[in-house]
Amino acid sequence: MPARPIPVLTHVRRLMAATVVLALAACDGPQSTLNPAGVGAERIADLWWWMFGGAVVIWVLVIGLALYATRFGTGQHDVRKARLLIVGAGAVFPTIVLAGLLVWGLRLMPVLRPPTGTAAVRVEVEGLRWWWRVTYVTADGRRIPLANEIRLPVGQLAAFTLTSPDVIHSFWIPSLGGKMDMIPGRVTELALEPTRTGVFRGACAEYCGTSHALMQFGVEVMEPAAFDDWLAGQAAPAEPPASPEAERGQALFLAFGCGACHAVRGTPADGTIGPDLTHVGGRLTLGAGILPNDPDAFARWIGDTHEVKPDAEMPPFGMLPEADLRALALYLDGLT
Ligand code: CUA
Repeated sequence: MPARPIPVLTHVRRLMAATVVLALAACDGPQSTLNPAGVGAERIADLWWWMFGGAVVIWVLVIGLALYATRFGTGQHDVRKARLLIVGAGAVFPTIVLAGLLVWGLRLMPVLRPPTGTAAVRVEVEGLRWWWRVTYVTADGRRIPLANEIRLPVGQLAAFTLTSPDVIHSFWIPSLGGKMDMIPGRVTELALEPTRTGVFRGACAEYCGTSHALMQFGVEVMEPAAFDDWLAGQAAPAEPPASPEAERGQALFLAFGCGACHAVRGTPADGTIGPDLTHVGGRLTLGAGILPNDPDAFARWIGDTHEVKPDAEMPPFGMLPEADLRALALYLDGLT
């Protein structure tokens, strides 16, 4: 028996259901532009909802016209009315709508790019393969290095200076505001003002190579006093290992030459090629937003680096005995 054709209305219903499900699924979570937690993100979400509403109205009108034309208006058309429809709905209407959106978009620009002279927080971020070098610069000029994590005080403007040495990345915290490309040979800037506390996620929004999709970072918006405490903690050197096994981990870390690439301030490890690990155990995530922060994840990262993040510059140390991996993991996890 030949398959019966699916009625047009069934297609329409399915499409509408899929659209609503997709739209609602994107409304929540730590990386949603539609659940804004920043001044810029709020303006962008407003614009998005108006555009979405307008698109739904236009879609319903177009589908209605298509149904009318195929079901009911199959006789001869009045040429004058048809011309009017083409000129009115095909040229005049889109011109008015797009001009309105253009004006709205231009008026948003000053809000999305506020002057950063008064910014309370200054952060330099460098996009690397495939992680983020983050440096907080204090008012008195001190530089505090960390990696793959941004923390900000709520209600205060933060100014970001963005760079990349080789390929184009794009720095994006969807919950807080718009994104900005990191372009080799140029310095770009972004300003974000969080409006509520919470834990969010940032991501690279420009294809940059093999592990582009694994280039994320944790974001936490904190009360100003908690932020000041956190930053003071980041500026301090590392605590010494708290257990004999962690102490053995530190000895292995130094013996294997990890310090050629990584710094642990307060120890002889002072490399600058890879992420600063002084407080790595206290970060929201590991491996630039892709692993939880616990000893198992440290061991996995060190032993199976390229399974976890293909093409990462760090060589894997899978040849190490399990006990050594464990000791290293415990040492690093204790660097809070
Ligand atoms: Cu970095 Cu995509």
